Amino acid sequence: MRIPSNKVCDIERFAYQELENLYPKSEIKTFILMLFEHFLGWNTAHFLAFKNSTINQSDLLKLNFAIKDLRFGKPIQYILGSTTFCDIPINVTPATLIPRPETEEIVYNIIEKEKHLAPKNILDICTGSGCIAIALSKAINNSQVYATDISVEAIKIAQSNAKTNLCNINFAISDILKIDNPFDETKFDIIVSNPPYVRDMEKAQMHCNVLDYEPHLALFVPDNNPLIFYKSIALFANKYLNPDGRLYLEINEELGNETIALLEKQGYNAQLHQDFLGKNRMIIAQKII
Ligand SMILES: C[S@@+](CC[C@H](N)C(=O)[O-])C[C@H]1O[C@@H](n2cnc3c(N)ncnc32)[C@H](O)[C@@H]1O
Repeated sequence: MRIPSNKVCDIERFAYQELENLYPKSEIKTFILMLFEHFLGWNTAHFLAFKNSTINQSDLLKLNFAIKDLRFGKPIQYILGSTTFCDIPINVTPATLIPRPETEEIVYNIIEKEKHLAPKNILDICTGSGCIAIALSKAINNSQVYATDISVEAIKIAQSNAKTNLCNINFAISDILKIDNPFDETKFDIIVSNPPYVRDMEKAQMHCNVLDYEPHLALFVPDNNPLIFYKSIALFANKYLNPDGRLYLEINEELGNETIALLEKQGYNAQLHQDFLGKNRMIIAQKII
């Protein structure tokens, strides 16, 4: 299917027709406005005022591809190549997970709790797009933020996001399962991580726009070892978290008690926290000294 004309109101009608079986009307409206803003630089007022005008062939083609991608379930963030996280612009590619509102909530919580404690060294393990590291670096004055990921592509995007947001963050490619510290023997006041935690068996309940487009490396863990990342992070933190430091972990809502038990076994005092939907979503842990 192709957009029938290059008149704005026809393009809008076409988008509604193509997407009506897949998304609610309000979401389609948001998509249309986002696409016009992204490809043509039009804000909402301009879009509404120029509905009877026409656009050039090149912009029409871009909109046609974008609407087609949306029809196939491609997330709008990957079409635009960007999103916002804690009000910060973050570029995303298929090598990086799209940051989630639950993660944003965790970061706001960390900022609230940590601002007055003035942590010096902060480490974000499994940084992906760098969203957590960048948000913490911007909010917590005088901190030095470090961030790691196993994916070379993700680290490139995270570095470029840090540059765009004027943050001086130390990045390293590193496999947390090897429990190495790529920053020599640096110790941290905060270690934060949103590691892969979705069990393979949960794939069946997941939407195809996540399964088909988001990096599986960022999401999935084996059914028979779902806490594999938490074990390594706890071991890493045993060595590199300062004695009075805090460990903040995003977790699988189904595995809250198991994750707490694992951390307690490794010598931590750990508490479970719920997200805005009342789901177990975050653990704050401190070493028992
Ligand atoms: C759930 S995503 C989190 C991304 C980002 N921090 C966020 O909250 O949106 C998990 C990240 O872990 C990374 N990862 C997967 N296996 C890893 C490993 N063995 N060591 C380090 N990072 C790993 C993935 O590349 C991905 O970027």
